Amino acid sequence: MSYPVKEIQTKPYEGQKPGTSGLRKRVKIFQQEHYTENFVQSIFDSIDAKGSTIVLGGDGRYFSQDAVQIILRIGSANGVSKFIIGKDGIFSTPAASNIIRKYKTTGGILLTASHNPGGPNNDFGIKYNVSNGGPAPENVTNTIFEKTKTISSYRVIDAPPLDLSKIGETTFGPTKVVIIDSVTDYLILLKEIFDFSLIKSFLQQHKTDFKVLFDGLHGVTGPYARAIFVETLGLAESSIQNCVPLPDFGGGHPDPNLTYAHSLVEAVEKGNIQFGAASDGDGDRNMIYGKGAFVTPSDSVAVIAQWADAIPYFKKGGVKGLARSMPTSKAIDLVAQKKGLEYFEVPTGWKFFGNLMDAGRLSICGEESFGTGSDHIREKDGLWAVVAWLNILAAANANSPNKLIGINDLLKEFYSIYGRSFFSRYDYEEVSSEGANSLVANLDQALTSGSLNNTEHVSASTSNKFVISGLYNFEYKDPIDHSVSKNQGHVITFSDGSRVVFRLSGTGSQGATVRMYVERYLAPNAPAEELNRSAAEGLKGLIEVALEVSKLKHYLGRDEPTVIT
Ligand code: G6P
Ligand code: ZN
Repeated sequence: MSYPVKEIQTKPYEGQKPGTSGLRKRVKIFQQEHYTENFVQSIFDSIDAKGSTIVLGGDGRYFSQDAVQIILRIGSANGVSKFIIGKDGIFSTPAASNIIRKYKTTGGILLTASHNPGGPNNDFGIKYNVSNGGPAPENVTNTIFEKTKTISSYRVIDAPPLDLSKIGETTFGPTKVVIIDSVTDYLILLKEIFDFSLIKSFLQQHKTDFKVLFDGLHGVTGPYARAIFVETLGLAESSIQNCVPLPDFGGGHPDPNLTYAHSLVEAVEKGNIQFGAASDGDGDRNMIYGKGAFVTPSDSVAVIAQWADAIPYFKKGGVKGLARSMPTSKAIDLVAQKKGLEYFEVPTGWKFFGNLMDAGRLSICGEESFGTGSDHIREKDGLWAVVAWLNILAAANANSPNKLIGINDLLKEFYSIYGRSFFSRYDYEEVSSEGANSLVANLDQALTSGSLNNTEHVSASTSNKFVISGLYNFEYKDPIDHSVSKNQGHVITFSDGSRVVFRLSGTGSQGATVRMYVERYLAPNAPAEELNRSAAEGLKGLIEVALEVSKLKHYLGRDEPTVIT
């Protein structure tokens, strides 16, 4: 069918600047007249839309269906020659990254606000990924932002909504549309990476003493999890929960951490589950949590790197290099040093890993914000991390016929070799921007004047003594394209190797969010009872000192953080 192309007059909206991960706003903002259309037209104006192939899908949150139809109409009018869409508009973020790479498309538009709550009163998001499958680099997002500031019209084809529920090929005006199963290609990819038969036989052997529970938090991973855990690994239906995706995530906050994934934490504790895991709204984050065993994301990526050889993908292709974001603990650095691998510290945001991967210098990386992944795609990958842990545990147990090795055994072994980096993050959400800016300005001032250097601070409750050895504002020069990213967070270092980082979140949709990251290292020869403490105990003194030095309570007017991870 041919449909007329219409040119619709519009006016720019302020503030359509894509953040760390696309444009994220309240649904109500996206629903304003021309708001979504303006942004989508600006994307197509910033890429070579004519003749392009675009992957389209998202986590299915509220407003996704409308957005898909808008993007189809505008994309088609702008000359997109082919859309590849997940059935019902569904793709997890890692699955979309894979589709972009596998089918060598121009890019993809991902409809998600990741772990932010969904529903009519919550968040929606639109993110553009480029041909390597990763989030668009800053030069692209800046171009999109510039276009949004001057837009005066957008083009649409005047067509009725397309039925997204039928797999197969169809046309939409001049554009070819291919609707594919959301899960199939992703499952194929994971099967190429991991030793599924080893995992399956391990799980079958330990049906009673190694129970598995995956919690989808009503996000997009439900169908992917069913395909992996139930259909492929042969686990019972009871090994997955909250795996029916809902547009408002059942009213929850689909973020896999100890606070928001309480449905998993409770079920694991109650059901005596040795291996629990959860993923976020769009499936790129993960948390590994078994009975009495919480794996910090910083430790998680380090253990995966330590055990990389157990995973066929790395055994075959080798590990090229390791990396973490700046606030992430340095545990993975120690693995790199021991294995003689190159390693990198990049700013927060997965996009910084992409260049290193494309250049063949990075294989495994992670962030403290519950993101773990590898160069199999260009996004972090929640289910990849979960299956990686199962693969590693299966391999460890294959060499331990008499004793079941669980999560804590792997952690203890890691600490005994590399020492332990206690790590925790305090989030102060939706604080006033003035307060947040004053906190940063105060750190800046201390940086310029050097007033904190060599000062000694004693924790009132633990009597631990900390001496500040330095303060800097993290800056990164990309070793591949030499671009420089400044102001990536203030780092206070201490003479015992501890550090505290203060950073403003780039993903909030309301007010400002301040994050404080604390890290304290204990060498492997420290007394075992100290090495195996909880993070809260291990960090107590340092946290007190960090709050005092930064005058955080004074600037933010908050006694307690919103979330502790
Ligand atoms: C997204 C990105 C992550 C990044 C995180 C930072 O989830 O995909 O790579 O770590 O945002 O969020 P923040 O709120 O700390 O800026
Ligand atoms: Zn996410």
